[in-house]
Amino acid sequence: MALFQPVSYSLSGKTGGALLVELSCFDQVFFCNSGAEANEGAIKLARRYANTIKKIENGHIVTFDHSFHGRTMATLTATAQEKIQDGFAPLLEGFKYLPYNSEEALTALSQDDACIAVLLEMVQGEGGVIPADPAWVKKLAQLCKDKGILLMVDEVQTGMGRTGTWFAYEQYGIEPDVMTLAKHLGRAFRSALFLQKKK
Ligand SMILES: Cc1ncc(COP(=O)(O)O)c(C=O)c1O
Repeated sequence: MALFQPVSYSLSGKTGGALLVELSCFDQVFFCNSGAEANEGAIKLARRYANTIKKIENGHIVTFDHSFHGRTMATLTATAQEKIQDGFAPLLEGFKYLPYNSEEALTALSQDDACIAVLLEMVQGEGGVIPADPAWVKKLAQLCKDKGILLMVDEVQTGMGRTGTWFAYEQYGIEPDVMTLAKHLGRAFRSALFLQKKK
């Protein structure tokens, strides 16, 4: 079931979207204007998934310490950094932060029945360039699959060939449910999108 109707605004959007579907493990594309907006779309998709399919009304999205997901209200709440959130209280409800690359995060997630989605950077760009540990990502992806948690990768920074493959997730042998892209997508133009699986 498509939770968001994919939209193409132009012929170039259509062909670009089709190409990205071909290059990735995703089926559908939703175009927007910035990385923050793409992550907003992913957050809304997760909430709709929780409300309509998982039947969890007050679920939360897990993000990771030192992450960066944007500067809108939802994405700065998703960004687990006090310096980005400072001065913008009250933040949104529905987010929990766990330590990146840690067993503690996997244990917490395995005991968490209200988590609806995980939003993950394959390489954290803020506070140092920190790649996700491949063994940890594999376990995280399996846990998400087992528990019906959406695995959403924020590839605003790492996508479009910047780590040697089209998308960094490919190097981890996983298939996320959602991926956000921006920045290098449009070269000098502000452009962004997120991709989703049909199911
Ligand atoms: C990983 C990541 N996600 C999201 C964003 C937000 O993108 P934008 O500035 O296009 O809103 C950034 C921006 O640097 C980013 O690095």
